[in-house]
Amino acid sequence: MEVLKDSIIQCLLLLLLFGCASAEVHHHEFVVEATPVKRLCRTHNIITVNGQYPGPTLAVRDGDTLVVNVINRAKYNVTLHWHGVRQLRTAWADGPEFVTQCPIRPGGSYTYRFTIEEQEGTLWWHAHSSWLRATVHGALIIYPKHGSYPFPTPKKEIPFILGEWWNEDPIRVVRRAARTGAAPNVSDAFTINGQPGDLYKCSNKETTVFTVAPGETNLLRFINAALNNEHFISIAGHKMTVVAADAAYTKPFTTSVLMLAPGQTTDVLLTADQPAGRYYMAAHAYASARGVAFDNTTTTAILEYTNSGCPTKNRPGVLPAFPVLPAFNDTPTATAFAAGIRSPRPVKIPSPIDHHLFFTVGLGLFNCPPGRRCGGPNGTRFGASMNNVSFQLPTRISILQAYHLGVRGVFTTDFPAAPPVQFDYTAANISRALWQPVPGTKLYPLKYGSVVQLVLQGTNIFAGEEHPMHIHGYHFYVLATGFGNFDPARDAASFNLVDPPLRNTVGVPVNGWAVIRFVADNPGVWLMHCHLDVHITWGLAMAFLVENGVGKLQSLEPPPADLPRC
Ligand code: C2O
Repeated sequence: MEVLKDSIIQCLLLLLLFGCASAEVHHHEFVVEATPVKRLCRTHNIITVNGQYPGPTLAVRDGDTLVVNVINRAKYNVTLHWHGVRQLRTAWADGPEFVTQCPIRPGGSYTYRFTIEEQEGTLWWHAHSSWLRATVHGALIIYPKHGSYPFPTPKKEIPFILGEWWNEDPIRVVRRAARTGAAPNVSDAFTINGQPGDLYKCSNKETTVFTVAPGETNLLRFINAALNNEHFISIAGHKMTVVAADAAYTKPFTTSVLMLAPGQTTDVLLTADQPAGRYYMAAHAYASARGVAFDNTTTTAILEYTNSGCPTKNRPGVLPAFPVLPAFNDTPTATAFAAGIRSPRPVKIPSPIDHHLFFTVGLGLFNCPPGRRCGGPNGTRFGASMNNVSFQLPTRISILQAYHLGVRGVFTTDFPAAPPVQFDYTAANISRALWQPVPGTKLYPLKYGSVVQLVLQGTNIFAGEEHPMHIHGYHFYVLATGFGNFDPARDAASFNLVDPPLRNTVGVPVNGWAVIRFVADNPGVWLMHCHLDVHITWGLAMAFLVENGVGKLQSLEPPPADLPRC
């Protein structure tokens, strides 16, 4: 508090002199440790940062530097990832285990150092090791460097983190699935700011409540930190105006329902323009895959007007109004919401294109390998792939270290630019011969500065599903999305080359496709994966290897001295 006061005073002085634009360095200590928390009638020992669930909120300004010393006092390996931060030249701080670093072993520590460069809005941080992300995550809020928002200054700002809860240790859940080859158990609850809410057992005393004053407009920053489910979110009686997504401003648009996939963030303005009272915020799954089990429970929080009289939130007999949530499989609503997100102004689309890439994304089934258990459908093991390559993490060294040190045999650079076999990707009856992916650690190499257009094509192998695809170290323009097979002749006409949204995670529609474009201007090894953890566990990932350009400013910095060793 004292430090904050000092820096505010300093800032005010600087404001008088220079306009308060000096960049700050924020130091934090994040202790990863087992912490007892009571949820759904029982005490569970979950892994947290600094004993908090969700973890601490980081708040910085554009241009600031973060120095986060992570100390691992848990019994699991851990790494942290700063989701959506560009990490220009600092790939060593990106965090995915065995991609840019070896994990921090129990008892070890590592300091992540990076600078926010020309980004503002809502991002987040999360563990990037096994399924620790379930409880190890928090908000990362980036305020504008100077000046204000491109919308009226909100009265209050409130982060809302959606989470996914298992009564069992999530690490056990995923380890069992890896052993048996079957699908992991679905979760037991969803949470809003760590609390499941009134519709679950033993939970209503702790339901998240947020108060608003009548007439005021507040900024709600939604982050979907759930592991395996996308979510519809709605607030009874209120419309929301979307103003940003994935830390990029958008053309404002008004909606009564949001859809966020894991990895995505959405900022909305909410005006308290309804009669005094209490209103539920509720979220449940958008489950796009047909016939696949999912957690069909609903998490809630309560919006309470300050003038609603007696403030006791559990006043008997007066139930808050409940919003209408779309059906679990309401793809048209999900599609309309995503289509509403556009850049505020015309943008400069990177061109000309140097790499035309076409990657299939989808599930698969491995025939039973000798000596393994095969609890998947018909005695198989579940898998997933991009261009039929099921991504395997190295185990002895990270890919970036292997590249930097010239260690051979860790990865190859032959990730295919197109699928090995072309077929009707979204057909109902894809030949079983096409269901089996090939494991590999394949990267796609890119020269510094090359322009990439990537078509992500969902497949209907085992089950079509919307895949939220995330690229580390980059954001990209989403030029178009559609259903069925992408057809260059027909679909190029639908590209938005004027005001496409800038995102770090794009939902590839169920049995459909998305086209994205970006400039490879950040050297390093960058993982691209489906942000449903069950799918990344099965191999729905690949990585780009972006070479250094010319000179220091286009080159990866040297690795930090305390980079963990394997
Ligand atoms: Cu949110 Cu690989 O990350």
